[in-house]
Amino acid sequence: MAQTRNRRIVLGITGGIAAYKAAELVRLLIKDGSEVQVVMTQAACGFITPATLQALSGKPVFTDLWDSRVTDGMAHIALSRGADAIVIAPASANFMAKLANGLADDLLSTLCLARECPLMVAPAMNRQMWENKATQRNVAQLARDGVAILGPASGDQACGEVGLGRMLEAQQIFDEVQSQLAPKLLAGKNVLITAGPTFEALDPVRGITNRSSGKMGYAIARAALDAGAKVTLVSGPVHLDAPASARVERIDSAAEMFAAVKKHVKSADIFIGVAAVADYRPERVSAQKIKKKDDDMSLRLVQNPDILAWVAAQPKPPFCVGFAAESQKLNEFADAKRRRKKVQLMVANLAQHAIGADDNEVTLLDDAGLHKLPRAPKTVVARQIVAHVAALGTARRKTRK
Ligand code: CTP
Repeated sequence: MAQTRNRRIVLGITGGIAAYKAAELVRLLIKDGSEVQVVMTQAACGFITPATLQALSGKPVFTDLWDSRVTDGMAHIALSRGADAIVIAPASANFMAKLANGLADDLLSTLCLARECPLMVAPAMNRQMWENKATQRNVAQLARDGVAILGPASGDQACGEVGLGRMLEAQQIFDEVQSQLAPKLLAGKNVLITAGPTFEALDPVRGITNRSSGKMGYAIARAALDAGAKVTLVSGPVHLDAPASARVERIDSAAEMFAAVKKHVKSADIFIGVAAVADYRPERVSAQKIKKKDDDMSLRLVQNPDILAWVAAQPKPPFCVGFAAESQKLNEFADAKRRRKKVQLMVANLAQHAIGADDNEVTLLDDAGLHKLPRAPKTVVARQIVAHVAALGTARRKTRK
């Protein structure tokens, strides 16, 4: 499986109080495995220091068109070449006016003009400046020129006013950047995903569950959306925000998850079972809180349906992906599970490494064999899994009525 190189992002920071959010954006991009080259305008340096951004990005920050560190004196060319995207956050009204008119009077505006890659701007300004006809004219021009406008949001402003013009939060900008840059490998596909744990009630206050955080399933939902898919996410109880553009069904028990999957599976081209579904549930659910007695107590558990195996056994099943969390003999157990459940792809990980963590190390098992992926943030692993599903060519919907 081809390993994609790290993304190279040039992050341009212009003068505005929202510049402090750029520090968090750098952190998110770096955590996701991107290389980030920060370029600041003089005005930006009045709001946040280059030293902060240098520490977070691990690279010297450029502010000057005539920077002596670039030996041929062409910093604008050197910095924009090889970039996968230029992201301006925050983008001031003045900077957008320069961009809309093709002005190039400092390093950042010059490298935007010299770029060969997508340009995204996250406006940040007072609401009157945003509403001003000149700004709106510039925004419309930038959109016509193919520049992606991220936001702005509405809300409290640094000046004390309330309205449109606030910069998006760092996480929202990060998500938008991912979405803009992702190849649309699953365009037009319906993807059904289960995620998180299930909760098997014993009585109104107690139940059996597991330590699944839902992070891997949510990351796959995000990656599939970014790849152009329509996503239905059937989620057990987790403390995560679902991607805004996913259709989300929140459930507690395996039985509820099964019912939700049955409802949506007919229109699914791809089914990805990431959930840590409880294999057993209490035979009886007490309507009242179970009272302590003097003696020990035993619980009788009955089997839950295997949702993944059921989906894969349908007459015209979607392309099925399973997850195997094992504590030993990873590849052997995972491959046996793949064959038993008759799924095209099994993603194997060691339970003790994966559960609750932000990173994961997985091996993909399919008919062609094993593909071990390096340890990486779950967001990165999710993109690689989505790319692998698409590459298997089976993402194409089988001829089903
Ligand atoms: N799965 C499912 N329904 C179940 C149990 C599991 O859909 N009742 C799915 C999971 O979402 C996952 C895959 O099956 O994609 C593997 O789950 P796992 O619990 O590791 O497999 P089991 O068959 O339950 O095997 P084990 O004995 O290891 O628990």
